Amino acid sequence: MRIVLLGAPGSGKGTQSQLLVKAFGIPQISTGDLLRDAVAKRTELGLKAKSAMDAGKLVDDATVLGMMRERLSRPDAAKGFILDGFPRNIPQAEALSKMLAEMGAPLQAVVLLNLDLGILFKRLSGRRICESCGRVFNIYTAAPAALEHCDKCGAEHRLIQRPDDKEEVIGKRLDVYEAQTKPLISFYTAAGLLRVVDADADVNAVFGNIRNAIGAAAQAPGRSPSA
Ligand code: AP5
Repeated sequence: MRIVLLGAPGSGKGTQSQLLVKAFGIPQISTGDLLRDAVAKRTELGLKAKSAMDAGKLVDDATVLGMMRERLSRPDAAKGFILDGFPRNIPQAEALSKMLAEMGAPLQAVVLLNLDLGILFKRLSGRRICESCGRVFNIYTAAPAALEHCDKCGAEHRLIQRPDDKEEVIGKRLDVYEAQTKPLISFYTAAGLLRVVDADADVNAVFGNIRNAIGAAAQAPGRSPSA
């Protein structure tokens, strides 16, 4: 299965990707995770991306597309993938369509996680991540037993806040979504690929909505949006 999870920051793309990985045995490809990994390792790409990420802006298309071309060429992507956080604007969507056409593996569905702005803000400002195992919590909606520590790894590991989850950056990220990412809704609607899912429910209910939305699409051969 080859799908994109589309949605605003905090709409649950990462959380739902993890459930899809378990259910379908295909990799989650998250441009945000790949970029954060590059930042943590202080690679050339990471150093270039860091200032845009910290400011809540998009990293430049050439950097992201080079990274994605490499990631999609790895053997595990041949059996399918969940794209999380990519594409993020029309040029990226057009480039993805070309890449997948070259691979003979067009998208089968684009799932939009639909959620109100007010809820997004709470989900982002409340997110905490275990610095050791990467498990994601939320102090409002999915709190760990002890606020400072991870339930999974134990007391010695700290829960941290992403730099771009600070309240002053969240607004910028939501503006970028409105201006640059939201046009993808029309783009993928025109291509007949868009499925809209209500993401304002508990994690398992949202997952059920996604399964229903992709049920038929997962069997389809896929489509290439015309650029
Ligand atoms: P990225 O990492 O992609 O961030 P994002 O799209 O802003 O999405 P998030 O990871 O913030 O949210 P999510 O939708 O995954 O929600 P989650 O499941 O974690 O990008 C970060 C930055 O990298 C960008 O700003 C940009 O600079 C750069 N970048 C990335 N991709 C790029 C690209 N293609 N081009 C250019 N630049 C790029 O959930 C959020 C919280 O809500 C968690 O605490 C979770 O526990 C909770 N939660 C989830 N689901 C539920 C639920 N159903 N009920 C209650 N709580 C829930």
